[in-house]
Amino acid sequence: MNVFSPTENPIMKWLDSDSGLVKELEKIRTPAYVYSYRKFKEGSARLARALSQVSSSVSVFYSMKANAARTMMKWTREAHFMTEVSSIGELRYAMKSGQTADNILLLGPGKHEELMDLALELHIFGIAVESFRELSYVTANHNGKTRIFIRINADRNVPGVTESMFGPESKFGIDVSRLGEALEKLDGFDSDLVGIHYYMGSQLTDHETMLSFHREILTYVARYRDRFNSIDMGGGFGIPYSENEHELDLDAFATGLGKILSDLSLEDKYIYFESGRYIAADAGVFLTRIMDVKGDDHRKVLVTDGGMNDFMRIAFMKEHHPIAHVIPDRSSSKMVKSVISGPLCTPLDCFATSALIPADVKEGDMIAIFKAGAYGLTLSPVFFLLHSLPSEYAVRDGGISEITRKNLRTEEIFSSLY
Ligand SMILES: Cc1ncc(COP(=O)(O)O)c(C=O)c1O
Repeated sequence: MNVFSPTENPIMKWLDSDSGLVKELEKIRTPAYVYSYRKFKEGSARLARALSQVSSSVSVFYSMKANAARTMMKWTREAHFMTEVSSIGELRYAMKSGQTADNILLLGPGKHEELMDLALELHIFGIAVESFRELSYVTANHNGKTRIFIRINADRNVPGVTESMFGPESKFGIDVSRLGEALEKLDGFDSDLVGIHYYMGSQLTDHETMLSFHREILTYVARYRDRFNSIDMGGGFGIPYSENEHELDLDAFATGLGKILSDLSLEDKYIYFESGRYIAADAGVFLTRIMDVKGDDHRKVLVTDGGMNDFMRIAFMKEHHPIAHVIPDRSSSKMVKSVISGPLCTPLDCFATSALIPADVKEGDMIAIFKAGAYGLTLSPVFFLLHSLPSEYAVRDGGISEITRKNLRTEEIFSSLY
């Protein structure tokens, strides 16, 4: 577990800011997510810069499943990311948040006809079809404009990856051995409208493993090179959550991939990537106040006002996020191993089992969980126990503002259902 030294204010470091802003943060309604524009810019610019080395035509889709806050949608649009959506709700919301249809890609298994109808009616940029049923439906109802990507599934998993999306039991895509058959169904379509899509998995941090899979798949795909003009290679760009994990070497990945494309005479294709985590994770921090301090000088149990209903990722993925006790004006050199738990009536609702927390921790102090900008609220079971939704704030140009509508409570959403 990463713990920050009590003498350096971790939030201050994250914000790279003056203490005035930190004082403002102390007043916010917790539990809360805070998103930093500066951090967003850092991560997204690093990604875009590195990937531009792959070929002369590279575009990146922001995967809004990672964080659909309107502010994040706006920032990603401003940074010229297109948007990847995976449901009718995401499609409608992406449009509502200001994205234009010709910048939206729809993907995801098990698409209802209603969703494909809407995507075609809107003339979105592209649809990645994941089965022969979807392929038949999209070709039969095509609007003459939306690109059709055939999502392929390889026959084995990416080794060492917990969120691998390849393999014989995968629900994603069409079996790679049937790519030729799928492309035949698109014989009547100009190759400008045809693309190949694949997504090997999430949270990938080993560029060599990634490159060897890309080479294998692209070698197979290249035999059909005249039949398509775009390749969406997904992404899965991972980040280090704990101190045991390492940074993905994006530059080595991008230059290696560029070489593979030219080796296979695919360098003239339009290349697309998708990313949520790399863009949004480090831009968000989850803040929660300590309601109760229990235990003794050797072991403490801290109960916080935010729980896994607000931030599920730690309980769900068993991930260790960097966690810090935020003490602006106090510091104790003695650290105590502490359990940090949310307020839900389940032991699963636990952020840390042995975080090192200063011994003078008090009720009302703040805990910060970093790298919470991706798969934070979007992944969380907000209806469990009907607590209020966490608030969300954005920090930009030295100011902090709340970005969610105040007082919209889960019980109001819930009671409108019945
Ligand atoms: C097809 C596809 N594209 C993109 C993403 C976004 O992944 P990440 O946020 O890890 O970049 C996912 C995540 O599950 C996905 O399934």
